[in-house]
Amino acid sequence: MADITPLLADRWSPHAFDATHVISDEQVELLLEAARWAPSAMNRQPWSFVVGVRDSDTFARLRTAVSGYSDWALDASTLVLGAYENAGTDPDYALYDLGQAVAHMSVQAEALGLHVRQFATFDHAGAAREFGIAAPWRPIIMAAIGLPAPGQKPEGALHERGCSGLSASVAG
Ligand SMILES: Cc1cc2nc3c(=O)[nH]c(=O)nc-3n(C[C@H](O)[C@H](O)[C@H](O)COP(=O)(O)O)c2cc1C
Repeated sequence: MADITPLLADRWSPHAFDATHVISDEQVELLLEAARWAPSAMNRQPWSFVVGVRDSDTFARLRTAVSGYSDWALDASTLVLGAYENAGTDPDYALYDLGQAVAHMSVQAEALGLHVRQFATFDHAGAAREFGIAAPWRPIIMAAIGLPAPGQKPEGALHERGCSGLSASVAG
């Protein structure tokens, strides 16, 4: 059987980032463009992102929702907040679509030699307040993007296992 693409096989989520790494504007644009190209139900594209590059005002504002929750993420060169539009006949699909858009972003990051760790552990209400995100929009995920801190490696068995028996099983 052929191997899965290295873009997927080599992806892993650092738990510590290189605080000296600087991301370029072009890289940030490519990450967002990759998310924009994701498929979505009825092509609604029900996602929205707040992107803060280190040392920017936006990064500082995102930081307030991360500090005390996921401090390891504060060394990343970019913080991204992802929200979805919790509306329509079946909002489950909006959440599904946001996940796909972030997955696209993650694969594009890998192609650029960058790494992403998504995280749910942040001050959701604080982030919503800070950026005026109100219903039907709902911030649900953040992503730390950059280079791993020196010496960081994929986290052992969890990563090596690839996937669980259940998700790896193929019918037939
Ligand atoms: C929806 C979602 C929420 C996550 N939340 C957190 C989190 O709050 N804190 C954290 O350290 N990692 C978080 N992660 C990262 C996962 O723990 C990580 O992807 C998983 O352990 C697999 O490791 P790998 O990405 O290196 O393969 C989250 C990932 C996803 C997709």
